[in-house]
Amino acid sequence: MKIRNMSDDVHYYEPRQGHRLPHDPFNAIVGPRPIGWISSRDRQGCLNLAPYSFFNAFNYTPPIIGFSSIGHKDTVRNIEQTGEFAWNLVTRPLAEAMNKTCATVPPEVDEFALAGLTPAPSRVIGVPRVGESPVSFECRLTQIVQLQTAEGAKVETWLTLGEVVAIHISKALLKDGVYDTAGAQPILRGGGAADYFEIDREHLFRMARPR
Ligand SMILES: Cc1cc2nc3c(=O)[nH]c(=O)nc-3n(C[C@H](O)[C@H](O)[C@H](O)COP(=O)(O)O)c2cc1C
Repeated sequence: MKIRNMSDDVHYYEPRQGHRLPHDPFNAIVGPRPIGWISSRDRQGCLNLAPYSFFNAFNYTPPIIGFSSIGHKDTVRNIEQTGEFAWNLVTRPLAEAMNKTCATVPPEVDEFALAGLTPAPSRVIGVPRVGESPVSFECRLTQIVQLQTAEGAKVETWLTLGEVVAIHISKALLKDGVYDTAGAQPILRGGGAADYFEIDREHLFRMARPR
């Protein structure tokens, strides 16, 4: 395997000085990323739905997920108010609807209605799920962390973490009780302005951990 070092065939940069490329590659390198399609509601009951690809799972027991809001967006404000949110799986058939829900609209606009989606009642929390999505998590807020630089200066980005307190899985995705990741056709966010990847069975490979 070729060793990469400080040489002419390596593009090296320090992000604070700029990347010197037509597009910032950071997003494309740390990708594709799962999408946190987050439903929330404000204290007046107004619904909100938005995608966040700075999203992932951070713990198994209890399950904890989180997403990062670049700017203090409506989703974070709602979760601060109610302490609850739901996560919904974005599948290939739901891709275009998900995209509609990222529109910059005033807080009183309900993105469920905007994208023609059905708010389905949750069981443990007061925030609805996306009825069309085959998998949803009901979550209770655990922490909102404002990010900071290496020097401790505040960054206008908020990492919102929540414990998953209830899980809904379409039974069609359980094959002999095992969750069928590829069967759900999840999509993930790549880099650039518009790149996405779809998960399919063809690219599955298995590798056991060393004993
Ligand atoms: C696939 C996708 C991923 C996104 N990921 C993020 C993200 O990680 N963080 C963020 O702040 N905005 C992200 N956005 C933009 C937000 O969805 C957009 O700003 C939205 O209007 C926020 O809604 P809200 O103000 O109702 O919370 C993403 C948009 C798309 C389409």
